[in-house]
Amino acid sequence: MKESLLEARRIMIGKTILKFDTLDSTNEYIKKHALEFDQGTIVVAKVQTKGKGQYGNTWESPVGNLYFSILLRTKLSRESIFSYIMKTSISLVKLLSNHNVTATIKYPNDILINNKKISGILIESIGYEHLDAMVLGIGININQDHFNNLNYRATSMKLETNQITDIDSILEDFIRIYNHLDVSIDVHKQYLNSSILLNRSINYKGKEHIIKSINKQGDIVLECMGKLLTVRYDELPVESFYQFS
Ligand code: BTN
Repeated sequence: MKESLLEARRIMIGKTILKFDTLDSTNEYIKKHALEFDQGTIVVAKVQTKGKGQYGNTWESPVGNLYFSILLRTKLSRESIFSYIMKTSISLVKLLSNHNVTATIKYPNDILINNKKISGILIESIGYEHLDAMVLGIGININQDHFNNLNYRATSMKLETNQITDIDSILEDFIRIYNHLDVSIDVHKQYLNSSILLNRSINYKGKEHIIKSINKQGDIVLECMGKLLTVRYDELPVESFYQFS
């Protein structure tokens, strides 16, 4: 097994958990304090005033949901980053399934229920000299029942189950599931099993291709007339598969 996958399994998270009522962004807080914090430190906030999403978007962060970030001191390669994306995504799917909510993975790292987003992951690298590290920021919609002006459809555990869920217990569950993902489980296979992208057809360079797989580096494997080719995420219009509106 590749070193990056083994490493993603070895790092235990949540030995130190720092809890705040309000922060601008838990990712920003970890980035500012990365040199002081240990491997696997988690920072959690009840509210974020400047919650960040992917592609420079804002992550709406009112009280009632879970917002947390994890510090990972690790080699920063595409493969190691994708191994954390896979592990985090399947931990989130398992967590939701423990609460009777069936979730799928929207490649690369959104978690959906019936095509509505319930959780997102924002990975940022940390650029100190002599520090190879990244921040894994996770937002899970828990008790929110109204979403304003999003450019995608969103849901929450409350909307799916009609129940109010204790936010601290969700964080504890996440840490337990993440830390105990068994070494014998094939993280890559589980990620593929929960991914909604496979076997869809897509137009690439004017020809129809079938999405056969996502490899361990996070690239997409296409097939066209019996030939396989591998393309990077940003070369394909995968967003067109996800009808959010
Ligand atoms: C996405 O756009 O899907 C990623 C959302 C990530 C949100 C989380 S909430 C905790 C952490 N702090 C942030 O500012 N963003 C991430």
